[in-house]
Amino acid sequence: MLRGRIFYRGEFVEAGIEVEEGKIRRVGKLVDGRKVKGVILPAGIDVHVHLRDFEEKHKETIETGTEAALHGGICLVVDQPNTKPVVDSEDIYFRRMEVAKKKAFVDYTLNFALTNSNCDEIDIIVEKIRRKYYLPAIGEVFIQHNNEDLQIGYETLRKVVSELQSLITLHAEDPEFVKPGFPNFRFRSREAEIRAVEKALKISSFHFCHISTKDAAEMIMESDSTFEVTPHHLLFSTEEYARLGDAVNVNPPLRSRDEVEWLLRNFHRADVLASDHAPHTPEDKKAGAPGFPGVETMYPIFVFLATRGVVSFRDLVEKIAANPAKIFGFRDYGEIEVGKFANLAVFELKNVEEINADKLHSKCGWTPYESFKAIFPKEVYLRGTEALECGERLGRVIETDNPV
Ligand code: NCD
Ligand code: ZN
Repeated sequence: MLRGRIFYRGEFVEAGIEVEEGKIRRVGKLVDGRKVKGVILPAGIDVHVHLRDFEEKHKETIETGTEAALHGGICLVVDQPNTKPVVDSEDIYFRRMEVAKKKAFVDYTLNFALTNSNCDEIDIIVEKIRRKYYLPAIGEVFIQHNNEDLQIGYETLRKVVSELQSLITLHAEDPEFVKPGFPNFRFRSREAEIRAVEKALKISSFHFCHISTKDAAEMIMESDSTFEVTPHHLLFSTEEYARLGDAVNVNPPLRSRDEVEWLLRNFHRADVLASDHAPHTPEDKKAGAPGFPGVETMYPIFVFLATRGVVSFRDLVEKIAANPAKIFGFRDYGEIEVGKFANLAVFELKNVEEINADKLHSKCGWTPYESFKAIFPKEVYLRGTEALECGERLGRVIETDNPV
Protein backbone atom coordinates (compact mmCIF):
# COMPACT_ATOMS: atom_id res chain seq x y z
CA MET A 1 0.00 0.00 0.00
CA LEU A 2 2.65 2.56 1.08
CA ARG A 3 6.40 2.82 0.90
CA GLY A 4 8.66 5.22 2.71
CA ARG A 5 10.59 5.87 5.92
CA ILE A 6 8.60 3.79 8.36
CA PHE A 7 9.04 3.79 12.11
CA TYR A 8 9.32 0.04 12.64
CA ARG A 9 10.45 -1.80 15.78
CA GLY A 10 12.08 1.25 17.33
CA GLU A 11 13.82 2.75 14.29
CA PHE A 12 13.29 4.27 10.88
CA VAL A 13 13.60 1.83 7.97
CA GLU A 14 12.99 2.29 4.26
CA ALA A 15 10.25 -0.25 3.61
CA GLY A 16 6.76 -0.96 2.34
CA ILE A 17 3.54 -1.82 4.17
CA GLU A 18 1.00 -4.27 2.74
CA VAL A 19 -2.53 -4.08 4.11
CA GLU A 20 -5.39 -6.55 3.96
CA GLU A 21 -8.83 -5.88 5.41
CA GLY A 22 -7.56 -2.94 7.43
CA LYS A 23 -4.70 -4.83 9.05
CA ILE A 24 -1.01 -4.88 8.29
CA ARG A 25 -0.14 -8.07 6.44
CA ARG A 26 3.53 -7.50 5.66
CA VAL A 27 6.22 -4.92 6.41
CA GLY A 28 9.47 -5.22 4.54
CA LYS A 29 12.16 -3.81 2.29
CA LEU A 30 10.79 -5.79 -0.65
CA VAL A 31 7.15 -4.83 -0.15
CA ASP A 32 5.98 -2.49 -2.88
CA GLY A 33 3.64 0.49 -2.55
CA ARG A 34 3.02 4.13 -3.32
CA LYS A 35 6.02 6.14 -2.24
CA VAL A 36 5.12 8.76 0.37
CA LYS A 37 7.08 11.89 1.21
CA GLY A 38 7.86 12.16 4.89
CA VAL A 39 8.01 9.65 7.72
CA ILE A 40 5.31 7.09 8.46
CA LEU A 41 4.55 6.80 12.18
CA PRO A 42 1.86 4.81 13.95
CA ALA A 43 -1.18 7.06 14.38
CA GLY A 44 -1.52 8.17 18.01
CA ILE A 45 -3.92 7.13 20.75
CA ASP A 46 -5.14 9.87 23.07
CA VAL A 47 -6.31 8.17 26.27
CA HIS A 48 -7.57 11.37 27.87
CA VAL A 49 -10.05 13.62 26.07
CA HIS A 50 -13.19 15.42 27.23
CA LEU A 51 -15.41 15.66 24.15
CA ARG A 52 -18.36 17.29 26.01
CA ASP A 53 -21.34 17.01 23.63
CA PHE A 54 -24.69 16.24 25.35
CA GLU A 55 -25.62 19.52 27.11
CA GLU A 56 -22.25 21.16 26.41
CA LYS A 57 -22.30 21.17 22.61
CA HIS A 58 -21.22 24.81 22.63
CA LYS A 59 -17.78 23.73 23.94
CA GLU A 60 -17.19 20.62 21.83
CA THR A 61 -19.02 17.68 20.27
CA ILE A 62 -17.90 14.15 19.54
CA GLU A 63 -17.91 15.19 15.89
CA THR A 64 -15.70 18.28 16.27
CA GLY A 65 -13.44 16.69 18.87
CA THR A 66 -12.74 13.62 16.76
CA GLU A 67 -12.25 15.78 13.67
CA ALA A 68 -9.59 17.65 15.65
CA ALA A 69 -8.08 14.30 16.66
CA LEU A 70 -7.86 13.14 13.05
CA HIS A 71 -6.09 16.35 11.97
CA GLY A 72 -3.66 15.78 14.82
CA GLY A 73 -2.73 12.24 13.72
CA ILE A 74 -4.77 10.49 16.43
CA CYS A 75 -6.65 7.33 15.43
CA LEU A 76 -8.32 6.41 18.74
CA VAL A 77 -9.56 8.48 21.66
CA VAL A 78 -10.64 7.58 25.17
CA ASP A 79 -13.37 10.00 26.18
CA GLN A 80 -13.93 10.92 29.83
CA PRO A 81 -17.30 10.58 31.55
CA ASN A 82 -17.57 13.93 33.40
CA THR A 83 -20.10 15.08 30.82
CA LYS A 84 -23.49 16.73 31.41
CA PRO A 85 -25.18 14.41 32.27
CA VAL A 86 -22.36 12.28 33.73
CA VAL A 87 -21.80 8.86 32.13
CA ASP A 88 -22.81 7.04 35.31
CA SER A 89 -25.32 4.46 34.04
CA GLU A 90 -25.33 1.90 31.24
CA ASP A 91 -28.13 3.80 29.50
CA ILE A 92 -26.10 6.99 29.24
CA TYR A 93 -23.04 4.97 28.23
CA PHE A 94 -25.00 3.31 25.40
CA ARG A 95 -26.53 6.64 24.36
CA ARG A 96 -23.12 8.24 24.03
CA MET A 97 -21.67 5.30 22.11
CA GLU A 98 -24.59 5.60 19.66
CA VAL A 99 -23.72 9.27 19.06
CA ALA A 100 -20.11 8.30 18.47
CA LYS A 101 -21.08 5.57 16.03
CA LYS A 102 -22.77 8.17 13.82
CA LYS A 103 -20.49 11.16 14.37
CA ALA A 104 -16.92 10.10 15.16
CA PHE A 105 -14.14 10.62 12.63
CA VAL A 106 -11.71 8.35 14.48
CA ASP A 107 -12.14 5.30 16.69
CA TYR A 108 -13.89 6.19 19.88
CA THR A 109 -14.01 4.59 23.32
CA LEU A 110 -15.43 5.85 26.59
CA ASN A 111 -14.53 5.49 30.23
CA PHE A 112 -17.27 4.96 32.79
CA ALA A 113 -17.75 7.25 35.81
CA LEU A 114 -17.58 5.94 39.34
CA THR A 115 -19.81 8.15 41.51
CA ASN A 116 -21.03 8.12 45.08
CA SER A 117 -24.47 7.20 43.70
CA ASN A 118 -23.45 4.18 41.62
CA CYS A 119 -20.54 2.77 43.61
CA ASP A 120 -22.62 0.02 45.24
CA GLU A 121 -23.68 -1.43 41.91
CA ILE A 122 -20.65 -0.55 39.78
CA ASP A 123 -19.76 -4.21 39.13
CA ILE A 124 -23.24 -4.96 37.74
CA ILE A 125 -23.20 -1.90 35.46
CA VAL A 126 -19.69 -2.63 34.21
CA GLU A 127 -20.76 -6.17 33.36
CA LYS A 128 -23.71 -4.86 31.31
CA ILE A 129 -21.45 -2.46 29.39
CA ARG A 130 -18.89 -5.15 28.73
CA ARG A 131 -21.47 -7.37 27.09
CA LYS A 132 -21.81 -4.74 24.37
CA TYR A 133 -18.67 -2.63 24.25
CA TYR A 134 -14.98 -2.61 25.01
CA LEU A 135 -14.73 -0.58 28.21
CA PRO A 136 -11.23 0.90 28.48
CA ALA A 137 -11.35 1.96 32.13
CA ILE A 138 -13.30 3.30 35.08
CA GLY A 139 -12.25 6.92 35.29
CA GLU A 140 -10.86 9.46 35.40
CA VAL A 141 -11.95 8.90 38.99
CA PHE A 142 -11.76 12.23 40.78
CA ILE A 143 -10.33 12.22 44.27
CA GLN A 144 -11.01 15.98 44.21
CA HIS A 145 -13.88 17.55 42.26
CA ASN A 146 -16.30 20.41 42.79
CA ASN A 147 -19.20 18.05 42.09
CA GLU A 148 -19.59 16.09 45.33
CA ASP A 149 -20.97 13.08 43.54
CA LEU A 150 -17.80 12.86 41.42
CA GLN A 151 -15.43 13.38 44.35
CA ILE A 152 -14.64 9.84 45.45
CA GLY A 153 -13.10 9.19 48.86
CA TYR A 154 -10.21 6.78 49.36
CA GLU A 155 -12.51 4.31 51.16
CA THR A 156 -14.86 4.06 48.17
CA LEU A 157 -11.84 3.53 45.97
CA ARG A 158 -10.57 0.73 48.21
CA LYS A 159 -13.93 -1.01 48.13
CA VAL A 160 -14.33 -0.74 44.35
CA VAL A 161 -10.81 -1.96 43.64
CA SER A 162 -11.37 -5.14 45.60
CA GLU A 163 -14.57 -5.90 43.66
CA LEU A 164 -13.66 -4.87 40.12
CA GLN A 165 -11.30 -6.27 37.54
CA SER A 166 -11.07 -3.00 35.61
CA LEU A 167 -8.32 -0.56 34.94
CA ILE A 168 -9.00 2.53 37.05
CA THR A 169 -7.64 5.89 35.96
CA LEU A 170 -7.27 8.48 38.69
CA HIS A 171 -7.33 12.26 38.80
CA ALA A 172 -5.15 12.34 41.90
CA GLU A 173 -5.48 15.58 43.84
CA ASP A 174 -6.28 15.50 47.55
CA PRO A 175 -9.14 17.85 48.56
CA GLU A 176 -7.31 18.79 51.77
CA PHE A 177 -4.71 20.71 49.73
CA VAL A 178 -7.10 22.31 47.24
CA LYS A 179 -8.56 25.75 47.93
CA PRO A 180 -10.73 27.82 45.60
CA GLY A 181 -9.05 30.80 43.92
CA PHE A 182 -7.57 32.24 40.74
CA PRO A 183 -5.03 31.62 39.29
CA ASN A 184 -5.48 28.10 40.56
CA PHE A 185 -1.74 27.27 40.72
CA ARG A 186 -1.63 29.43 43.85
CA PHE A 187 -4.43 27.43 45.48
CA ARG A 188 -4.02 23.80 44.38
CA SER A 189 -0.63 22.88 45.79
CA ARG A 190 1.74 20.21 44.50
CA GLU A 191 1.14 18.52 47.86
CA ALA A 192 -2.42 17.83 46.66
CA GLU A 193 -1.09 15.56 43.91
CA ILE A 194 1.73 14.02 45.92
CA ARG A 195 -0.47 13.08 48.90
CA ALA A 196 -3.24 11.69 46.70
CA VAL A 197 -0.77 9.52 44.76
CA GLU A 198 0.85 8.35 48.00
CA LYS A 199 -2.50 7.35 49.50
CA ALA A 200 -3.77 5.72 46.30
CA LEU A 201 -0.62 3.62 45.91
CA LYS A 202 -1.31 2.15 49.36
CA ILE A 203 -4.69 0.96 48.07
CA SER A 204 -3.76 -0.64 44.74
CA SER A 205 -2.23 0.04 41.34
CA PHE A 206 -3.83 2.53 39.01
CA HIS A 207 -3.23 4.49 35.86
CA PHE A 208 -2.61 8.06 37.05
CA CYS A 209 -3.82 10.85 34.78
CA HIS A 210 -1.79 14.00 34.04
CA ILE A 211 1.03 13.76 36.61
CA SER A 212 2.60 17.18 37.11
CA THR A 213 5.13 16.81 39.94
CA LYS A 214 8.51 15.13 40.26
CA ASP A 215 7.68 13.54 43.62
CA ALA A 216 4.46 11.93 42.41
CA ALA A 217 6.12 10.72 39.20
CA GLU A 218 9.00 9.13 41.11
CA MET A 219 6.64 7.33 43.50
CA ILE A 220 4.69 5.88 40.57
CA MET A 221 7.86 4.85 38.73
CA GLU A 222 8.79 2.70 41.70
CA SER A 223 5.37 1.03 41.77
CA ASP A 224 3.31 -1.22 39.47
CA SER A 225 1.12 1.73 38.50
CA THR A 226 1.44 3.74 35.30
CA PHE A 227 1.06 7.45 34.57
CA GLU A 228 0.56 9.94 31.82
CA VAL A 229 2.07 13.36 31.25
CA THR A 230 0.41 16.11 29.23
CA PRO A 231 1.95 18.51 26.71
CA HIS A 232 0.96 21.49 28.88
CA HIS A 233 2.65 20.18 32.03
CA LEU A 234 5.78 19.48 29.96
CA LEU A 235 5.87 22.86 28.22
CA PHE A 236 4.13 25.46 30.40
CA SER A 237 5.13 26.71 33.83
CA THR A 238 3.34 29.16 36.12
CA GLU A 239 5.26 31.88 34.23
CA GLU A 240 2.74 31.40 31.40
CA TYR A 241 0.27 33.35 33.51
CA ALA A 242 1.81 36.49 31.98
CA ARG A 243 0.91 35.23 28.49
CA LEU A 244 -2.31 33.26 29.10
CA GLY A 245 -3.90 35.48 31.76
CA ASP A 246 -7.48 34.38 32.43
CA ALA A 247 -6.97 31.21 30.43
CA VAL A 248 -4.25 29.85 32.73
CA ASN A 249 -6.41 27.55 34.88
CA VAL A 250 -6.03 23.82 34.38
CA ASN A 251 -6.28 20.85 36.74
CA PRO A 252 -3.79 19.89 38.01
CA PRO A 253 -2.42 23.42 37.76
CA LEU A 254 0.76 24.55 36.05
CA ARG A 255 3.91 24.16 38.16
CA SER A 256 7.21 25.98 38.62
CA ARG A 257 9.72 26.13 35.80
CA ASP A 258 12.07 23.71 37.65
CA GLU A 259 9.33 21.12 37.93
CA VAL A 260 8.36 21.50 34.25
CA GLU A 261 11.97 21.15 33.11
CA TRP A 262 12.38 18.05 35.25
CA LEU A 263 9.25 16.45 33.74
CA LEU A 264 10.40 17.14 30.18
CA ARG A 265 13.91 15.84 30.90
CA ASN A 266 12.33 12.67 32.30
CA PHE A 267 9.83 12.22 29.47
CA HIS A 268 11.43 8.85 28.63
CA ARG A 269 10.41 7.57 32.08
CA ALA A 270 6.69 8.40 31.73
CA ASP A 271 4.34 5.73 30.41
CA VAL A 272 1.93 7.76 28.31
CA LEU A 273 1.61 11.16 26.63
CA ALA A 274 -2.06 12.22 26.70
CA SER A 275 -3.63 15.59 26.01
CA ASP A 276 -6.35 15.91 28.69
CA HIS A 277 -8.14 17.78 25.89
CA ALA A 278 -10.52 19.87 28.03
CA PRO A 279 -12.17 22.44 25.74
CA HIS A 280 -13.92 25.49 27.20
CA THR A 281 -14.98 28.59 25.28
CA PRO A 282 -12.96 31.80 25.78
CA GLU A 283 -15.90 33.18 27.85
CA ASP A 284 -15.84 30.10 30.12
CA LYS A 285 -12.07 30.49 30.49
CA LYS A 286 -12.50 34.11 31.58
CA ALA A 287 -14.79 32.83 34.31
CA GLY A 288 -12.03 30.48 35.51
CA ALA A 289 -13.02 27.16 33.84
CA PRO A 290 -10.04 24.77 34.13
CA GLY A 291 -8.62 22.99 31.10
CA PHE A 292 -6.82 23.36 27.76
CA PRO A 293 -7.71 21.90 24.37
CA GLY A 294 -4.90 19.73 23.01
CA VAL A 295 -5.94 16.63 21.06
CA GLU A 296 -5.04 18.20 17.69
CA THR A 297 -1.76 19.82 18.68
CA MET A 298 -0.16 17.11 20.86
CA TYR A 299 1.37 14.85 18.20
CA PRO A 300 2.31 17.75 15.84
CA ILE A 301 4.13 19.69 18.60
CA PHE A 302 5.97 16.60 19.78
CA VAL A 303 6.95 15.51 16.27
CA PHE A 304 8.47 18.97 15.89
CA LEU A 305 10.25 18.59 19.26
CA ALA A 306 11.54 15.18 18.14
CA THR A 307 13.07 16.74 15.01
CA ARG A 308 14.89 19.14 17.32
CA GLY A 309 16.10 16.35 19.63
CA VAL A 310 14.10 17.54 22.67
CA VAL A 311 12.52 14.07 22.83
CA SER A 312 13.40 11.01 20.76
CA PHE A 313 11.08 9.57 18.11
CA ARG A 314 11.41 6.26 19.91
CA ASP A 315 10.08 7.67 23.19
CA LEU A 316 7.40 9.70 21.46
CA VAL A 317 5.97 6.75 19.52
CA GLU A 318 6.12 4.54 22.59
CA LYS A 319 4.22 7.03 24.77
CA ILE A 320 1.69 8.18 22.21
CA ALA A 321 0.88 4.82 20.62
CA ALA A 322 2.48 1.59 21.91
CA ASN A 323 2.10 2.09 25.67
CA PRO A 324 -1.48 3.43 25.58
CA ALA A 325 -2.45 0.34 23.55
CA LYS A 326 -0.77 -1.99 26.06
CA ILE A 327 -2.03 -0.30 29.22
CA PHE A 328 -5.63 0.11 28.03
CA GLY A 329 -5.79 -3.22 26.22
CA PHE A 330 -6.25 -1.97 22.65
CA ARG A 331 -4.83 -5.15 21.22
CA ASP A 332 -4.77 -4.25 17.54
CA TYR A 333 -3.46 -0.71 17.93
CA GLY A 334 -0.26 1.11 18.80
CA GLU A 335 2.41 -0.18 16.45
CA ILE A 336 3.26 -0.62 12.81
CA GLU A 337 3.41 -4.38 13.04
CA VAL A 338 2.01 -7.40 11.22
CA GLY A 339 -1.49 -8.19 12.51
CA LYS A 340 -2.21 -4.68 13.84
CA PHE A 341 -4.60 -2.16 12.27
CA ALA A 342 -2.99 -0.04 9.56
CA ASN A 343 -3.41 3.19 11.56
CA LEU A 344 -0.73 5.45 10.15
CA ALA A 345 0.20 9.13 10.23
CA VAL A 346 2.56 10.62 7.64
CA PHE A 347 4.58 13.66 8.71
CA GLU A 348 6.76 15.70 6.33
CA LEU A 349 9.45 16.79 8.71
CA LYS A 350 10.38 19.94 6.79
CA ASN A 351 6.80 21.14 6.95
CA VAL A 352 7.05 23.21 10.13
CA GLU A 353 4.03 25.44 10.75
CA GLU A 354 3.04 27.91 13.43
CA ILE A 355 -0.09 26.89 15.28
CA ASN A 356 -3.05 29.17 14.64
CA ALA A 357 -6.35 28.61 16.46
CA ASP A 358 -8.31 29.61 13.34
CA LYS A 359 -6.97 26.55 11.53
CA LEU A 360 -7.75 24.06 14.31
CA HIS A 361 -10.95 22.04 14.50
CA SER A 362 -12.01 22.06 18.14
CA LYS A 363 -15.22 23.98 18.70
CA CYS A 364 -13.76 25.87 21.65
CA GLY A 365 -12.04 28.27 19.26
CA TRP A 366 -8.77 28.92 21.10
CA THR A 367 -5.48 27.20 21.90
CA PRO A 368 -2.83 27.85 24.54
CA TYR A 369 -0.26 26.85 21.86
CA GLU A 370 -0.85 29.83 19.54
CA SER A 371 2.33 30.42 17.41
CA PHE A 372 4.02 27.26 18.68
CA LYS A 373 5.96 25.37 16.02
CA ALA A 374 4.42 22.07 14.95
CA ILE A 375 4.43 19.51 12.15
CA PHE A 376 0.88 18.42 11.31
CA PRO A 377 0.30 15.11 9.52
CA LYS A 378 -0.33 15.41 5.80
CA GLU A 379 -1.88 11.94 5.50
CA VAL A 380 -3.66 9.75 8.04
CA TYR A 381 -4.81 6.18 7.43
CA LEU A 382 -7.43 4.54 9.61
CA ARG A 383 -7.43 0.78 9.29
CA GLY A 384 -5.84 1.06 5.89
CA THR A 385 -8.25 3.67 4.50
CA GLU A 386 -7.01 7.17 3.85
CA ALA A 387 -8.95 9.58 6.08
CA LEU A 388 -6.78 12.69 5.70
CA GLU A 389 -5.02 13.72 2.49
CA CYS A 390 -2.84 16.82 2.05
CA GLY A 391 -4.04 17.83 5.51
CA GLU A 392 -7.70 17.74 4.38
CA ARG A 393 -10.31 15.35 5.72
CA LEU A 394 -11.79 12.88 3.27
CA GLY A 395 -15.14 11.10 3.85
CA ARG A 396 -16.14 9.45 7.10
CA VAL A 397 -14.24 6.20 7.52
CA ILE A 398 -15.37 4.93 10.90
CA GLU A 399 -18.70 3.15 10.93
CA THR A 400 -18.44 0.56 13.58
CA ASP A 401 -20.34 -0.29 16.68
CA ASN A 402 -17.43 -1.33 18.74
CA PRO A 403 -14.08 -0.47 17.27
CA VAL A 404 -11.89 -2.42 19.60
C1 NCD B 1 -11.29 18.97 33.19
C2 NCD B 1 -12.49 19.29 32.33
O1 NCD B 1 -12.64 20.45 31.93
O2 NCD B 1 -13.28 18.39 32.03
N1 NCD B 1 -10.42 20.10 33.30
C3 NCD B 1 -9.09 20.08 33.55
O3 NCD B 1 -8.52 21.13 33.83
N2 NCD B 1 -8.36 18.98 33.46
C4 NCD B 1 -11.85 18.52 34.50
C5 NCD B 1 -10.94 18.65 35.68
O4 NCD B 1 -9.98 17.92 35.77
O5 NCD B 1 -11.21 19.50 36.55
ZN1 ZN C 1 -9.36 15.17 32.43
